[in-house]
Amino acid sequence: MLAYGGGSIKKTGLYDTVKEILDAGDFEVVELSGIAPNPRIESVVEGVALCKHHQIDVILAVGGGSVIDCSKAIAAGVYYPGEDLWEMVKTSDHLQKALPLVDILTLSATGSEFDGGGVISNLKTKEKLGGLFTYPTASICDPTYTFSVSSYQSASGAADIMSHIMEGYFSKTKDSDLSDELAQGVLKTVIKNLPIVLKEPDNYSARANLMACASVACSGIPEYGKASTGWPCHAMEHELSAYYDITHGVGLAILTPSWMRYILQKDPSVTWRFVRFAKEVWNLEDQDETKIAYAGIDALEHFFKEAGIPMRLSELGIDDIYFEEMARHANRNGRLSNAFVALNEQDIVEIFKNCL
Ligand code: NZQ
Ligand code: ZN
Repeated sequence: MLAYGGGSIKKTGLYDTVKEILDAGDFEVVELSGIAPNPRIESVVEGVALCKHHQIDVILAVGGGSVIDCSKAIAAGVYYPGEDLWEMVKTSDHLQKALPLVDILTLSATGSEFDGGGVISNLKTKEKLGGLFTYPTASICDPTYTFSVSSYQSASGAADIMSHIMEGYFSKTKDSDLSDELAQGVLKTVIKNLPIVLKEPDNYSARANLMACASVACSGIPEYGKASTGWPCHAMEHELSAYYDITHGVGLAILTPSWMRYILQKDPSVTWRFVRFAKEVWNLEDQDETKIAYAGIDALEHFFKEAGIPMRLSELGIDDIYFEEMARHANRNGRLSNAFVALNEQDIVEIFKNCL
């Protein structure tokens, strides 16, 4: 089964290339098209039905994180013993078997090409949930396939990569040197290469560096040896996407500086970590620890703004009416009480409000 999104692969010619290769190999190909950003459970249901009907042997996903995530859920869904595939998404950590999945990555962002996770949305229940479905058998990562990615999606993808790093970097563990150095290296590589990509979309070296960063960032490697952090910005962002169907990386870019300022004010004992971020990632210097900590956050926000990301929720038409409901969902089972700085629902509402 050849799975793809809303048609970017047809515009770039990648679809024709893939079809030519498949036709030459005498494959019988069934297509699943129209997989949307923030992929829907309905596409998973459609894909599983197609796979079962046509007795599919392998899924070839061509696209960004949304196409790959949806294809992972389909690959596992084929063997799911229950009727309700949304139930599978909710309880997916115990899945045993999946169809083999090969992907051709066309956007550097999520790291889905390198991990076993996938995120599926249910617009009816206003839920966006991550699960562990299956790892790709092989991922084809050719930076030239990302030359056509728009400035908006390139910047948003870079924000996602940086967030995958920052979610783990901001932890209380002080002595996981390799993880911290790897994390800083990925951040600095993105900071150097995103502006190049925005000016020269077909700069191979810059696109290749972003692609490598995307895969490493979500691999778990830059978090080795670190205390778990709960990934608070992702928990909050998935609520924004679930309620308003916004671009994942844009939501993260808006939330992250606000979250940082909020926790730094709530618990100044974590200032040391922000000082390290400011010095090592942004090359800032100041004798005053509080000043340099906030300057690092300002630098991050400025970087996102310069990349053209809308930095207020109000610019996306979002107001505060669902904030309390979203905060309850983001903190399901009290999962953010173990975050780098513990967050309760009131804290989350305040962070959302500060982003308006
Ligand atoms: O649908 P098509 O027409 O292909 O267009 C897509 C889409 O509109 C377009 N695009 C992709 N490659 C392109 C291109 N346009 C031009 N040229 C190309 N080469 O870009 C748009 C966005 O695509 P999408 O796949 O949605 O972006 P991304 O890769 O950022 O994936 C986002 C999804 O992944 C989830 C997010 O929550 C969101 O649902 N995540 C998955 C993770 C994982 N599997 O580990 C972790 C992440 O934290 C994240 O939550
Ligand atoms: Zn992400």
